[in-house]
Amino acid sequence: MKTIITFGTYDLLHIGHVRILERAAALGDKLIVGVSCSDLNQSKKGRAPIYSTEDRMAIISALKCVDDVFIEKSLDLKGEYIQQFGADILVMGDDWAGRFDEFKSLCEVVYLPRTTGISTSKLIADISDINPTPESHS
Ligand code: CTP
Repeated sequence: MKTIITFGTYDLLHIGHVRILERAAALGDKLIVGVSCSDLNQSKKGRAPIYSTEDRMAIISALKCVDDVFIEKSLDLKGEYIQQFGADILVMGDDWAGRFDEFKSLCEVVYLPRTTGISTSKLIADISDINPTPESHS
């Protein structure tokens, strides 16, 4: 039984999120996802997520490839979470390459390539650029 753990905000769920979670799940038998709480996102990225922590957790836990979700309350607790959930592999996107190598003493650490051309920040920027006409509000 191989347990995989990964972390993220997963705001405005998009194909990059789904792909990394599916690839993470394929590395083992059970995928556990730490969903960053809104306060953590505020300090990490300088803005609050659009969706609440509860909604992001509900959306992630509804995915077929995800077995369990929990709230990631602090970036400093990754080691504790790895031990608490008995994770064999920590998966992170390669935007974090090398940054979590300290956990190699606890489990295997794998950085997976990100899907190109999409991110929550880009989606927000793209949606903000749309200027709908009054007729489009039906
Ligand atoms: N991810 C990915 N491909 C993308 C975007 C995200 O593989 N195009 C991965 C990240 O590497 C991370 C997980 O999805 O492992 C959650 O990332 P998150 O930061 O929540 O999503 P982003 O779209 O990168 O959000 P933002 O633009 O706010 O940084």
